[in-house]
Amino acid sequence: MLAVHKAVFPVAGIDTRFLPATKASPKEMLPVIDKPLIQYAVEEAVAAGITELIFITGRGKRVIEDHFDKSYEVEHVLRARGLQNLAELVQSIKPPNVNCIYVRQAEPLGLGHAVLCAQKLIGDDPFAVVLADDLLEGQPPVLEQMVHIFSHYDSSVIGVEEFEADGACAHGVVGGRHWDERVINVSSIVEKPAPEKAPSCFGVAGRYVLMPAVFDHLRAQRPGPHGEIELTPAIHSMLEEEQVLAYEFIGKRYDCGTKLGYLQATVDFALRHNEVHDAFGAWLRKRVDGETAAPGTTH
Ligand code: G1P
Repeated sequence: MLAVHKAVFPVAGIDTRFLPATKASPKEMLPVIDKPLIQYAVEEAVAAGITELIFITGRGKRVIEDHFDKSYEVEHVLRARGLQNLAELVQSIKPPNVNCIYVRQAEPLGLGHAVLCAQKLIGDDPFAVVLADDLLEGQPPVLEQMVHIFSHYDSSVIGVEEFEADGACAHGVVGGRHWDERVINVSSIVEKPAPEKAPSCFGVAGRYVLMPAVFDHLRAQRPGPHGEIELTPAIHSMLEEEQVLAYEFIGKRYDCGTKLGYLQATVDFALRHNEVHDAFGAWLRKRVDGETAAPGTTH
């Protein structure tokens, strides 16, 4: 039974959807309430047994390294002020058994290229790929569910969810036959097809557990017009040689790469957040009932 200890976090991409917020700071550091997206992704990976975190970073992303590094100043100041709990919270961002490794991707040349940047560090091991702008909630955490499926079948596993009618063009889409309620034996995967060309309504949700054979297929890809290499066609090419499964995870996905998904995550998480859920829930109910005047309205 193969274990999965390594995960790749491609974080070099330039964001256009959250400008100007992301002009000088990484989109992966956008907080949902009080925790950046990248930390949710890392926590999910660590819960799945991952101990080697490989970040594929780029210019302007150094703050991600700082976030997972020790901060003597912050810890010192918090302790000096008697804020022991906060000092421990800050200290626990990176568990002691976990290693963070940073690889620079000089140009953002696609998800496949980012994954290729990790090849030397991955070697012959299976590994996860985690896209932090997909915030996934599940119990057990989604990547843990996928590692379980991976270990059971010894096959690459792609996390998928059923999308709405017009969702194909925003996702990689898998086609194939259901083996059981949640596991699909993949026969094709297409990146953002036109709705009429989509092989199914199951879209890739930013989580993969892959066999290292994918690197051969990534290397064999012909780069796109701007030199970009995508992951989806490499996985499609892998299907000629080995079985790949899609797993319809138990949980919920927030597409925090879009404003709408980010807002939905913020509201849902706020309604459960131990500090603010009561007050926020009460405010939201009032707002929905129309009791709160719109901003700028005079009474
Ligand atoms: C990437 C993948 C796509 C997947 C999506 C999930 O696309 O290429 O297959 O469905 O993530 O978020 P992106 O959102 O980076 O355009």
